[in-house]
This record gives sequence, structure tokens and C-alpha cells, in this order.
Amino acid sequence: MLNTTASSSKPSACLSWSRVLLSACLPLVLGVFTIVFTVQQNSISIANREQDRRQAIELRQQVMYDAYIKEISKLLLKPSFNRSNRQQLNYIGFKTIDVLRHLSKIQKRDVILFLYNYELIRRDKPESQRVILKGADLTDAHFIRSNSMNCDLRNIYLNSVLASNIVFERCDLNYAVFENASIVGAKFIGSLMEGVRFHKANLTDAIFDGSNVYKVKFFHAILINVKFFGIKPVSADFTNADLLNSGLTRKDISATTHTFLNTRYPNGSFSVVNNTQLIVDGGAEKRVSLLSSLNYTT
Ligand SMILES: *[C@@H]1O[C@H](CO)[C@@H](O)[C@H](O)[C@H]1NC(C)=O
Ligand SMILES: *[C@@H]1O[C@H](CO)[C@@H](O)[C@H](O)[C@H]1NC(C)=O
Ligand SMILES: *[C@@H]1O[C@H](CO)[C@@H](O)[C@H](O)[C@H]1NC(C)=O
Ligand SMILES: *[C@@H]1O[C@H](CO)[C@@H](O)[C@H](O)[C@H]1NC(C)=O
Ligand SMILES: *[C@@H]1O[C@H](CO)[C@@H](O)[C@H](O)[C@H]1NC(C)=O
Repeated sequence: MLNTTASSSKPSACLSWSRVLLSACLPLVLGVFTIVFTVQQNSISIANREQDRRQAIELRQQVMYDAYIKEISKLLLKPSFNRSNRQQLNYIGFKTIDVLRHLSKIQKRDVILFLYNYELIRRDKPESQRVILKGADLTDAHFIRSNSMNCDLRNIYLNSVLASNIVFERCDLNYAVFENASIVGAKFIGSLMEGVRFHKANLTDAIFDGSNVYKVKFFHAILINVKFFGIKPVSADFTNADLLNSGLTRKDISATTHTFLNTRYPNGSFSVVNNTQLIVDGGAEKRVSLLSSLNYTT
């Protein structure tokens, strides 16, 4: 008897307790579920919106790129196109600088290869036949030799471009020109770089890794924090260059046939200063004061 009452009361007590628990838990569980679900939905829709936005940008870039290539190809293939016509070249330059601002880094690269292949940005062509890309945005563009892409850019002419973090890997850059270019953080990896001109280029934080830097002109270039891994430059011209904190050791500096004049060394001290220039400057000042005194007397 006792056994049965005990056994019958136990489940019923249990049942009522679990009912209480359940009735308390259910709203709680539902509430938590709702919150989790809403948060999840929210992040899904944010991700969707982000994806839509990206796709819209990519589509727009593709349309702009296609239109640019189509228009310029048509112009170049016209029988009336004249390589020495400055107006036509300036038009191409203007269109190129404009479109580059909007393109992806792969499309930027392809635009440059396109112009290079049409011989419009080459040092070995007369200046009158070059498209000027002053201020063109080549930020982050990567030129890397691969099975599907050669990287023969000998004589490429990229004066005054804005190309932070540009990368050249296993490229032929012999006799290339980067004068006055802003190529902060650029990487030159395993590339041929004989006779390249970096006159007045800003190469802050750039890396030269295993590139053949031979007879390169760093005249007036900013080489702050530049690293040279592997092969060191040979016969470089560092006239007026700023090598502060660059990776060139005392040995690299003294061992070779570089030119140093008005150069700031990695340790912050200066090389021999060209006195001729100072004397010329002094002469100019004298002439100015003479002219102004003449002005006063007349
Ligand atoms: C191309 O343009 C240049 C400069 O305007 C001109 O001297 C030359 O004669 C032109 N050539 C042709 C084939 O029209
Ligand atoms: C050098 O580059 C800057 C920036 O693109 C440009 O404003 C300036 O005119 C260039 N100077 C020369 C001499 O090309
Ligand atoms: C060169 O680039 C560095 C890094 O972006 C910048 O701080 C510096 O002002 C630039 N120098 C010149 C002369 O433009
Ligand atoms: C700085 O570096 C140059 C070139 O290596 C060297 O000739 C010069 O003695 C160094 N100056 C100091 C203060 O270490
Ligand atoms: C020093 O500067 C003057 C004037 O700019 C130049 O003619 C001369 O060649 C320079 N000297 C050297 C050794 O580079």
C-alpha cells in the first residue's frame, strides 16, 4: 500500500514540477529563440546587402572597363589615327586617368598592359608619341609573371603616376622610367632593372627583393626605409637621394661604384656636398640684390 502511494505521488509531483518548469521555460526558450533568430536574420541581411553592393560595384567597373577598351581600340584602329597627334594622345591620357580611378587593381593592370602593347607608354618611342599618365591611379596594381601572363615591360614609361603598393614580380623592367612617381611601399621582386630611372620618385618603404638593380638612377629619390634583399644595387646613382633608415649597410655603400653627392646616408649623416652648386646659388643671390638695388636707384 505504502509503496503504491509513494510511487503514485512521486510521478504526479514530478509531473507538476515539470509542468511549472515547462510553463516557465517555454516563453524563455521562445524569447531566446526569437532574439537569436532576429540577430541571425539581421546579420544575414547585412551580409546580403554587402554582397549586393559589391556586385553592383563590380558590374559598374566591368562596364567602365569594357567601354574604355572599346572606345580606345576603335580610336587606335582608325586609319586617321596619328601617333604623333598630341590632341589624340592627350584624349587617350585623359580617358585613361579618369577610368583608372574607378577600376579594380586587376583592371588597372590590364589597362597599363593595353597601352604598353600599343606602344603608347614607352621610353624607346619619341616623347611626341607618348601618352602622359601624370597623376594616374595605379595603387595596388600587381604585375606578376605567370603561365597566363608574361611581364615583359622593358622601357615602360610611368612618369608621375600614383602607385602605392604597386608590385612587379619576375618582370623585365630594364630601362623603365618611374620619374616623379609616388610608389610608396612598392615591391620589385626578382625583376630585371637595368638602367631604371627613379628621378624624384617617392620610394618610401619600398622593397627590392632579388631584383637586378644595375646602373639605376635614384637621383633625388626618397628612399627612406627602403629594403634591399638578396642582390644589392650595383653602380647606382644616389645623387641628392635620401637613404635614411634604408637597408643599405656601410659595406653596400662603400663596396661598389655608386655615386653619392648630397646624399643622406641610412644613419642620417650626409655625403660630400657639391660646393659648386652652393657657389652658383651665392652668385644668384648677389645678382638678385644687385638687381633690386638697381631698381631702387632708377
Ligand atoms: C601626324 O601628326 C604630326 C603632328 O601633328 C604631323 O607632323 C604628321 O604629318 C602627321 N602624319 C600624318 C601621316 O598625317
Ligand atoms: C609630379 O607628380 C605630381 C603628382 O602627380 C604632379 O602634381 C606634378 O606635376 C609632377 N611633376 C612633374 C614635373 O611632372
Ligand atoms: C613620400 O611618401 C611618404 C609616405 O607616404 C610621405 O609621408 C612623404 O610626405 C612623401 N614625400 C614627398 C616629398 O612627397
Ligand atoms: C654614416 O654612414 C656613412 C656611410 O656608411 C659613414 O661614412 C659615416 O661615417 C657614418 N656616420 C656615423 C656618424 O656613423
Ligand atoms: C656640382 O653641381 C654643378 C652645378 O649644378 C654641376 O655642374 C657639377 O657637375 C656638379 N659636380 C659634380 C661632381 O657632380
